[in-house]
Amino acid sequence: MVNDRIAVVTGASAGIGEAIARSLSAGGARVVLNARRADRLEALARDLEPGGGAAAGGASGARTAVVAGDAADEGVIGRMLDAARDRLGGGTREADLVVVNAGRGLRGSVYDSDVSQWEEVFRINLVAAARLMRAAAERMAGPVPVVRGAPPSSPAPPADWLDRPRDIVVLGSTVGRHLSPFSSLYGSAKAGVHMLAESLRRLMAPRGVRVTLIEPGIVRSEFQSVANYDPESFGKFMDSIGPVLAPADIARLVLFVVSQPAGVHVNDVMIRPTRQEYP
Ligand SMILES: NC(=O)c1ccc[n+]([C@@H]2O[C@H](COP(=O)([O-])OP(=O)(O)OC[C@H]3O[C@@H](n4cnc5c(N)ncnc54)[C@H](OP(=O)(O)O)[C@@H]3O)[C@@H](O)[C@H]2O)c1
Repeated sequence: MVNDRIAVVTGASAGIGEAIARSLSAGGARVVLNARRADRLEALARDLEPGGGAAAGGASGARTAVVAGDAADEGVIGRMLDAARDRLGGGTREADLVVVNAGRGLRGSVYDSDVSQWEEVFRINLVAAARLMRAAAERMAGPVPVVRGAPPSSPAPPADWLDRPRDIVVLGSTVGRHLSPFSSLYGSAKAGVHMLAESLRRLMAPRGVRVTLIEPGIVRSEFQSVANYDPESFGKFMDSIGPVLAPADIARLVLFVVSQPAGVHVNDVMIRPTRQEYP
C-alpha cells in the first residue's frame, strides 16, 4: 500500500498525527515524526521500530526518525525533510508523502475568543502549513519557477511519477468550509489552509504531485482542551452526537487516499461523525 514510501508527519505526538504515523508505518512507510514534545515522539518511534528498538537516529534500515521542534520554524522544516532523505531515504530519495497536520483550535468568535492566542492560531495553522507545503513541493517537484505574467505551460511530471506517487496531505476542517461563530478565528485559519491546498494542487497537478485536503468534523483528541472548549458542555455536546470520530478514522482515510494508483487523486474529502449535522 504505502510500502517503501518516505513520509513526514507533523503533529505526530498526539491525536490525528500520531494515528496517521502509526498507520503509515504499519503499511510499510518510513516516517519522520515531528512535534514539540520530543519524549512522546521518541516513545512512538520506539513503538514503531521493529522489535521496539531505540528510536532511529540514523542507523541504516531505520524506519523512523524524530525531528522535534516547532513546525512553523523554517529550520525545523528543513531538518524534517533532510531527515527523510538522509536518515530514511539512503541519502538520495526525498520524502514522497508529507502530512501537514500540526495545528490547534481556539474556542470562540472575534467577539469572545482569547485575543492573546490569535497570532499563534494563524502561525501554526496557516503560516506553518504554507511553509511546509512550499518546502515539500520544492523537494518533490524542483525549485519554484519564477512566474511573471501568464503561467508557464504545463510542465512534464518526473519520469517515474506513475511508479512513485508523491503526496502532500493537508489537514483542514469542516469549520474552514462552513461558518461557525463558535470557532471563527480557527475557522478563518483553516479556510485559508483550504485555499493554500487547492492553489498548490493546481500548480503541482501537472508535475505529478497530489495535494490533498482532508476536512474532518469532530475528532476526540487533545484538540478540545488545547482549544479551551469547556470540557463539560462540549463533552455533553460530543456525547449527544456521538460517537464522534477517533484519530484512527482519519488515519484510515489518509491511508486510503495515498494508496490510490499514482494516476488517481482523491483530492478533497470531508469526514464527519454520522450524527454531526453542523458545522
Ligand atoms: N480534533 C478535531 O476535532 C479536528 C477537526 C478538524 C481538523 N483538525 C485538525 O487536525 C489536526 C490535528 O489535530 P488533533 O485533533 O490531532 O489535535 P491534537 O490532539 O491537539 O494534536 C495536535 C498535534 O499538533 C502538535 N503541534 C501543535 N502545535 C505545534 C507546533 N507549533 N509545532 C509542532 N507540532 C505542533 C501537537 O504536538 P506538541 O504539543 O507535542 O507540539 C500534537 O501532536 C490539526 O491541524 C487540527 O486543526 C482537528
